[in-house]
Amino acid sequence: MSTTKPTSLNGTCNIDIGGMRIKYKDKTETFTEENLVSKEPIGQFKAWFEEACNTPQILEPNAVFLGTATKDGIPSVRAVLLKGYGTEGFKFYTNYDSRKGRELAENPNAAMNFYWEPLRRAVRIEGIVEKTSAEDSDQYFYSRPFSNQIGSIASKQSSIIANRQTLIVKERELLAQYTEKTIKRPECWGGYIVKPKSVEFWQGQSDRLHDRIRFRRPERGEKIDNIFVHQGENGWVYERLSP
Ligand SMILES: Cc1cc2nc3c(=O)[nH]c(=O)nc-3n(C[C@H](O)[C@H](O)[C@H](O)COP(=O)(O)O)c2cc1C
Repeated sequence: MSTTKPTSLNGTCNIDIGGMRIKYKDKTETFTEENLVSKEPIGQFKAWFEEACNTPQILEPNAVFLGTATKDGIPSVRAVLLKGYGTEGFKFYTNYDSRKGRELAENPNAAMNFYWEPLRRAVRIEGIVEKTSAEDSDQYFYSRPFSNQIGSIASKQSSIIANRQTLIVKERELLAQYTEKTIKRPECWGGYIVKPKSVEFWQGQSDRLHDRIRFRRPERGEKIDNIFVHQGENGWVYERLSP
Protein backbone atom coordinates (compact mmCIF):
# COMPACT_ATOMS: atom_id res chain seq x y z
CA MET A 1 0.00 0.00 0.00
CA SER A 2 1.35 3.47 -0.95
CA THR A 3 2.11 5.85 1.93
CA THR A 4 1.97 8.92 -0.36
CA LYS A 5 -1.06 11.09 0.31
CA PRO A 6 -3.32 11.15 -2.74
CA THR A 7 -3.11 14.95 -2.89
CA SER A 8 0.70 15.00 -2.71
CA LEU A 9 2.00 14.43 -6.23
CA ASN A 10 5.49 12.89 -6.05
CA GLY A 11 5.51 13.81 -2.35
CA THR A 12 6.29 17.49 -3.13
CA CYS A 13 3.66 19.16 -0.96
CA ASN A 14 4.25 19.64 2.76
CA ILE A 15 0.78 21.03 3.31
CA ASP A 16 -2.06 18.63 3.97
CA ILE A 17 -4.19 19.77 1.02
CA GLY A 18 -6.48 16.78 1.42
CA GLY A 19 -7.33 18.01 4.92
CA MET A 20 -8.10 21.56 3.83
CA ARG A 21 -11.78 22.40 4.11
CA ILE A 22 -13.80 25.21 5.63
CA LYS A 23 -17.20 25.10 7.20
CA TYR A 24 -20.03 25.97 4.86
CA LYS A 25 -23.50 27.06 5.90
CA ASP A 26 -25.29 24.91 8.44
CA LYS A 27 -28.70 23.32 8.24
CA THR A 28 -30.47 26.42 9.54
CA GLU A 29 -29.26 28.50 6.58
CA THR A 30 -30.16 26.45 3.54
CA PHE A 31 -31.05 27.86 0.12
CA THR A 32 -34.39 26.41 -0.90
CA GLU A 33 -36.89 27.22 -3.62
CA GLU A 34 -38.84 29.30 -1.06
CA ASN A 35 -35.74 31.48 -0.61
CA LEU A 36 -35.68 32.53 -4.26
CA VAL A 37 -36.34 36.26 -4.34
CA SER A 38 -37.17 36.01 -8.02
CA LYS A 39 -38.44 33.27 -10.32
CA GLU A 40 -36.04 34.39 -13.03
CA PRO A 41 -32.25 34.51 -12.81
CA ILE A 42 -31.53 38.21 -13.20
CA GLY A 43 -33.57 39.25 -10.17
CA GLN A 44 -32.02 36.42 -8.17
CA PHE A 45 -28.53 37.45 -9.34
CA LYS A 46 -29.25 41.04 -8.32
CA ALA A 47 -30.11 39.94 -4.78
CA TRP A 48 -26.99 37.79 -4.37
CA PHE A 49 -24.70 40.29 -6.12
CA GLU A 50 -25.90 43.16 -3.92
CA GLU A 51 -25.35 41.02 -0.85
CA ALA A 52 -21.80 40.27 -2.10
CA CYS A 53 -21.24 44.02 -2.69
CA ASN A 54 -22.33 44.71 0.88
CA THR A 55 -19.94 42.10 2.31
CA PRO A 56 -16.75 43.98 3.25
CA GLN A 57 -14.53 40.87 3.09
CA ILE A 58 -15.32 40.57 -0.63
CA LEU A 59 -12.92 43.03 -2.25
CA GLU A 60 -14.03 42.56 -5.86
CA PRO A 61 -17.54 41.10 -5.94
CA ASN A 62 -17.62 41.74 -9.69
CA ALA A 63 -14.55 39.56 -10.37
CA VAL A 64 -15.68 36.54 -12.35
CA PHE A 65 -13.94 33.63 -14.06
CA LEU A 66 -14.66 33.48 -17.75
CA GLY A 67 -14.30 30.26 -19.71
CA THR A 68 -13.98 30.23 -23.48
CA ALA A 69 -12.93 27.55 -25.94
CA THR A 70 -11.44 27.20 -29.38
CA LYS A 71 -13.61 25.89 -32.22
CA ASP A 72 -12.19 22.44 -31.42
CA GLY A 73 -13.37 22.75 -27.82
CA ILE A 74 -10.00 23.32 -26.13
CA PRO A 75 -10.93 25.40 -23.08
CA SER A 76 -9.22 28.31 -21.32
CA VAL A 77 -10.26 30.38 -18.33
CA ARG A 78 -9.29 33.73 -16.80
CA ALA A 79 -10.76 36.40 -14.52
CA VAL A 80 -12.51 39.50 -15.83
CA LEU A 81 -14.57 42.20 -14.15
CA LEU A 82 -18.32 42.26 -14.59
CA LYS A 83 -19.29 45.77 -15.72
CA GLY A 84 -23.04 45.45 -16.05
CA TYR A 85 -25.89 42.98 -16.07
CA GLY A 86 -29.58 42.92 -16.90
CA THR A 87 -32.13 40.95 -18.87
CA GLU A 88 -29.85 41.14 -21.93
CA GLY A 89 -26.97 39.42 -20.11
CA PHE A 90 -23.68 39.89 -18.28
CA LYS A 91 -21.17 42.41 -19.60
CA PHE A 92 -17.37 42.70 -19.48
CA TYR A 93 -14.72 44.61 -21.45
CA THR A 94 -11.50 43.37 -22.96
CA ASN A 95 -9.23 43.35 -25.99
CA TYR A 96 -10.96 41.66 -28.95
CA ASP A 97 -7.55 40.49 -30.27
CA SER A 98 -6.64 38.77 -26.99
CA ARG A 99 -6.66 35.00 -26.62
CA LYS A 100 -10.22 35.10 -25.22
CA GLY A 101 -11.27 37.46 -28.02
CA ARG A 102 -9.85 35.16 -30.67
CA GLU A 103 -11.52 32.14 -29.09
CA LEU A 104 -14.86 33.96 -28.85
CA ALA A 105 -14.59 34.95 -32.52
CA GLU A 106 -14.40 31.29 -33.56
CA ASN A 107 -16.64 29.88 -30.80
CA PRO A 108 -19.16 32.22 -29.12
CA ASN A 109 -19.94 29.80 -26.28
CA ALA A 110 -18.80 31.15 -22.92
CA ALA A 111 -19.17 30.33 -19.25
CA MET A 112 -18.77 32.50 -16.17
CA ASN A 113 -18.28 31.57 -12.54
CA PHE A 114 -18.52 33.97 -9.61
CA TYR A 115 -17.33 32.65 -6.25
CA TRP A 116 -18.11 34.74 -3.17
CA GLU A 117 -16.17 32.81 -0.57
CA PRO A 118 -17.33 34.59 2.64
CA LEU A 119 -20.94 33.93 1.60
CA ARG A 120 -20.20 30.34 0.51
CA ARG A 121 -21.96 31.14 -2.74
CA ALA A 122 -21.23 30.73 -6.43
CA VAL A 123 -23.10 31.64 -9.58
CA ARG A 124 -22.47 29.79 -12.85
CA ILE A 125 -23.59 31.30 -16.12
CA GLU A 126 -23.48 29.64 -19.54
CA GLY A 127 -24.42 31.28 -22.78
CA ILE A 128 -23.43 32.87 -26.04
CA VAL A 129 -21.46 36.11 -26.30
CA GLU A 130 -22.11 39.07 -28.51
CA LYS A 131 -19.97 42.20 -28.83
CA THR A 132 -21.56 45.28 -27.35
CA SER A 133 -22.12 48.27 -29.64
CA ALA A 134 -19.31 50.72 -30.48
CA GLU A 135 -21.29 53.38 -28.56
CA ASP A 136 -21.40 51.19 -25.47
CA SER A 137 -17.66 50.43 -25.70
CA ASP A 138 -16.90 54.14 -26.19
CA GLN A 139 -19.01 55.09 -23.21
CA TYR A 140 -17.17 52.69 -20.91
CA PHE A 141 -13.71 53.33 -22.40
CA TYR A 142 -13.99 57.10 -21.89
CA SER A 143 -15.36 56.65 -18.36
CA ARG A 144 -12.11 54.95 -17.28
CA PRO A 145 -9.18 56.89 -15.83
CA PHE A 146 -6.79 58.24 -18.52
CA SER A 147 -3.97 56.01 -17.19
CA ASN A 148 -6.15 52.93 -17.73
CA GLN A 149 -7.01 54.07 -21.25
CA ILE A 150 -3.30 54.43 -22.02
CA GLY A 151 -2.64 51.01 -20.46
CA SER A 152 -5.21 49.33 -22.69
CA ILE A 153 -3.60 50.84 -25.77
CA ALA A 154 -0.05 50.06 -24.60
CA SER A 155 -0.86 46.37 -24.21
CA LYS A 156 -1.43 44.13 -27.20
CA GLN A 157 -3.16 41.76 -24.82
CA SER A 158 -2.02 38.10 -24.83
CA SER A 159 0.95 38.74 -27.18
CA ILE A 160 4.46 37.72 -26.14
CA ILE A 161 6.79 40.58 -25.18
CA ALA A 162 10.49 40.57 -24.30
CA ASN A 163 10.27 42.20 -20.87
CA ARG A 164 8.34 44.64 -18.66
CA GLN A 165 10.45 47.54 -19.95
CA THR A 166 8.78 47.14 -23.36
CA LEU A 167 5.46 48.11 -21.74
CA ILE A 168 6.93 51.02 -19.81
CA VAL A 169 8.52 52.44 -22.97
CA LYS A 170 5.24 52.05 -24.87
CA GLU A 171 3.30 53.72 -22.06
CA ARG A 172 5.77 56.64 -22.04
CA GLU A 173 5.46 57.07 -25.81
CA LEU A 174 1.66 57.05 -25.62
CA LEU A 175 1.62 59.53 -22.73
CA ALA A 176 3.71 61.89 -24.89
CA GLN A 177 1.42 61.33 -27.87
CA TYR A 178 -2.07 61.62 -26.32
CA THR A 179 -4.00 63.75 -23.89
CA GLU A 180 -7.33 63.02 -22.26
CA LYS A 181 -8.93 64.98 -25.09
CA THR A 182 -7.18 63.29 -28.01
CA ILE A 183 -7.11 59.65 -26.92
CA LYS A 184 -9.29 57.31 -29.00
CA ARG A 185 -10.67 53.92 -28.09
CA PRO A 186 -8.87 51.36 -30.23
CA GLU A 187 -11.27 49.31 -32.38
CA CYS A 188 -9.82 46.13 -30.87
CA TRP A 189 -11.00 47.10 -27.38
CA GLY A 190 -14.62 46.81 -26.29
CA GLY A 191 -17.39 44.98 -24.54
CA TYR A 192 -18.95 41.55 -24.70
CA ILE A 193 -22.24 40.47 -23.28
CA VAL A 194 -22.83 36.87 -22.24
CA LYS A 195 -26.45 36.10 -23.10
CA PRO A 196 -27.34 33.40 -20.61
CA LYS A 197 -28.90 30.06 -21.50
CA SER A 198 -28.55 28.88 -17.93
CA VAL A 199 -27.72 30.46 -14.58
CA GLU A 200 -27.04 28.30 -11.54
CA PHE A 201 -27.07 29.50 -7.93
CA TRP A 202 -24.92 27.38 -5.61
CA GLN A 203 -24.68 27.65 -1.87
CA GLY A 204 -22.25 25.53 0.14
CA GLN A 205 -23.98 23.64 2.95
CA SER A 206 -22.90 21.35 5.75
CA ASP A 207 -21.95 17.73 5.04
CA ARG A 208 -21.48 18.54 1.34
CA LEU A 209 -25.25 18.58 0.81
CA HIS A 210 -24.97 21.82 -1.10
CA ASP A 211 -27.92 23.67 -2.59
CA ARG A 212 -28.01 24.15 -6.36
CA ILE A 213 -30.87 25.80 -8.20
CA ARG A 214 -30.51 26.24 -11.93
CA PHE A 215 -32.56 28.46 -14.20
CA ARG A 216 -32.63 27.56 -17.88
CA ARG A 217 -34.69 28.07 -20.99
CA PRO A 218 -37.13 25.17 -21.54
CA GLU A 219 -36.72 22.82 -24.51
CA ARG A 220 -39.29 23.28 -27.24
CA GLY A 221 -42.50 21.50 -26.15
CA GLU A 222 -41.00 20.54 -22.78
CA LYS A 223 -43.58 19.50 -20.19
CA ILE A 224 -43.18 21.38 -16.91
CA ASP A 225 -44.08 18.82 -14.22
CA ASN A 226 -43.64 21.15 -11.21
CA ILE A 227 -41.91 18.27 -9.42
CA PHE A 228 -38.49 18.29 -11.03
CA VAL A 229 -38.92 21.29 -13.31
CA HIS A 230 -40.73 24.41 -12.17
CA GLN A 231 -42.23 27.22 -14.17
CA GLY A 232 -40.32 30.45 -13.63
CA GLU A 233 -40.93 33.92 -15.01
CA ASN A 234 -39.91 35.68 -18.25
CA GLY A 235 -39.60 32.38 -20.14
CA TRP A 236 -37.34 30.63 -17.62
CA VAL A 237 -37.80 27.33 -15.81
CA TYR A 238 -35.86 26.25 -12.75
CA GLU A 239 -34.80 22.97 -11.21
CA ARG A 240 -32.72 21.64 -8.31
CA LEU A 241 -29.50 19.82 -9.08
CA SER A 242 -27.85 17.20 -6.94
CA PRO A 243 -24.71 18.59 -5.30
C1 LIG B 1 -9.63 40.20 -10.69
C2 LIG B 1 -9.21 40.32 -12.14
C3 LIG B 1 -9.97 41.08 -13.00
C4 LIG B 1 -9.60 41.18 -14.34
N1 LIG B 1 -10.41 41.90 -15.18
C5 LIG B 1 -10.15 41.91 -16.50
C6 LIG B 1 -11.07 42.51 -17.41
O1 LIG B 1 -12.12 43.03 -17.04
N2 LIG B 1 -10.74 42.48 -18.73
C7 LIG B 1 -9.61 41.90 -19.19
O2 LIG B 1 -9.38 41.90 -20.40
N3 LIG B 1 -8.74 41.28 -18.36
C8 LIG B 1 -8.98 41.28 -17.02
N4 LIG B 1 -8.11 40.65 -16.16
C9 LIG B 1 -6.92 39.98 -16.71
C10 LIG B 1 -7.32 38.60 -17.28
O3 LIG B 1 -7.53 37.68 -16.22
C11 LIG B 1 -6.33 38.05 -18.30
O4 LIG B 1 -5.02 38.06 -17.78
C12 LIG B 1 -6.35 38.85 -19.59
O5 LIG B 1 -7.65 39.26 -19.96
C13 LIG B 1 -5.74 38.06 -20.73
O6 LIG B 1 -6.48 36.87 -20.90
P1 LIG B 1 -6.41 36.02 -22.27
O7 LIG B 1 -4.96 35.97 -22.67
O8 LIG B 1 -6.95 34.66 -21.92
O9 LIG B 1 -7.27 36.72 -23.29
C14 LIG B 1 -8.44 40.53 -14.81
C15 LIG B 1 -7.68 39.78 -13.92
C16 LIG B 1 -8.07 39.66 -12.61
C17 LIG B 1 -7.25 38.78 -11.68
